[in-house]
Amino acid sequence: MRTYLVTGGAGFIGSNYIHYMFRKYCDEIRIINVDALTYAGNLENLKDVEKRPNYTFIRADICDKEAIARVFEENDIDRVVHFAAESHVDRSIRTPEIFVQTNVLGTAVMLNCAKAAWELPDGSFRENKKFLHVSTDEVYGSLPEDDNAFFYETTPYDPHSPYSASKAASDMLVKAYMDTYRFPANITNCSNNYGPYQFPEKFIPLMIHNALEGKKLPVYGDGKNVRDWLYVEDHAKAIDMVQEQGKLFETYNIGGHNEKQNIEILHIILETLRDMLPDDDPRKAHVNEGLISYVEDRKGHDRRYAIAPDKIRTQIGWEPETMFRDGIRKTIQWFFENEEWMKNATSGDYQKYYREMYEK
Ligand code: NAD
Ligand code: TYD
Repeated sequence: MRTYLVTGGAGFIGSNYIHYMFRKYCDEIRIINVDALTYAGNLENLKDVEKRPNYTFIRADICDKEAIARVFEENDIDRVVHFAAESHVDRSIRTPEIFVQTNVLGTAVMLNCAKAAWELPDGSFRENKKFLHVSTDEVYGSLPEDDNAFFYETTPYDPHSPYSASKAASDMLVKAYMDTYRFPANITNCSNNYGPYQFPEKFIPLMIHNALEGKKLPVYGDGKNVRDWLYVEDHAKAIDMVQEQGKLFETYNIGGHNEKQNIEILHIILETLRDMLPDDDPRKAHVNEGLISYVEDRKGHDRRYAIAPDKIRTQIGWEPETMFRDGIRKTIQWFFENEEWMKNATSGDYQKYYREMYEK
């Protein structure tokens, strides 16, 4: 039975990945989820799996060398899937240091502990041990808005935000481990994800939540920045396929082939909400374009991201499966069915964050 060490499994993508993996492999794998439970980590995301005998949760910080070394000592880990990170660009602009701490130093600890556990006396590595570093397309910088350029695996790194700079640094560390030690790893750089369990600081869940509450919908700048949206389950599938079928030491870009301006996304969300809300639901009356509010632009706001997922398609056979209009319906349906989750996520510290960020 393969044993996985998943970091950041209580967050958005990590929890979707864990659900995906248990749906796919059932009792054939064991998952150990290591998460510090920051504001972004939520064990409610995993209540469907917490009683499984082949699932273990360990609360630990990836920067804590002793704690991480212990996880490797006490378990024969076959796969590491490293999601844990500070992940929100706006927060990185306000507090960059924690991004360096978690994303760079935390990744160094993960690499070092995995290397110590897997390395043989002659410097080679035990067979069939693999580390997958989950990263972002934001490391490649920003594309011009009107040409047909895309990010490829060979595109030079050019990060702009403290978030993307810290992720770029963590990618470089993984590359350095592969080049220096032949450490068995892969890197995936993925475009923007959306779907169930996404924390409502990110664009799509924030807009769904605000629209339902009749609150303003804060669009940065002219609303024409472009992101390439991918349904989170498609990302989870890609990660598993890269780890099992990809070539070691390679980087794979993962993207949705679904570029849209923020304002277009917002119109689709509003349209879909109106279509899905029953006629007698009082929220239907206020879910409309009148809520849209253009606000000051994000500092250093990257204009356009777009991935060409050609390598993963031709080498591994992965393609995005979920069309945006289907994915957004599924996401909204999930939020309808999980009002309690949203209520909990937006109470407490979130209120303070929201006031400081949007009500200055
Ligand atoms: P998230 O913010 O929802 O979750 C991050 C998780 O990491 C949380 O559970 C949090 O508690 C945990 N964590 C944070 N600091 C930690 C620490 N020091 N020790 C242990 N756990 C810690 O993030 P997400 O959106 O699920 O992103 C997961 C990964 O995917 C990140 O590495 C991110 O860079 C990458 N990524 C995200 C997107 C996206 O659109 N969200 C796109 C591409 C890549
Ligand atoms: P976000 O979800 O923060 O992802 P990222 O910045 O990592 O791509 O933002 C997606 C896009 O939406 C980005 O162009 C910024 C924009 N945005 C807004 O216009 N208003 C908001 O309140 C937020 C959170 C984002």
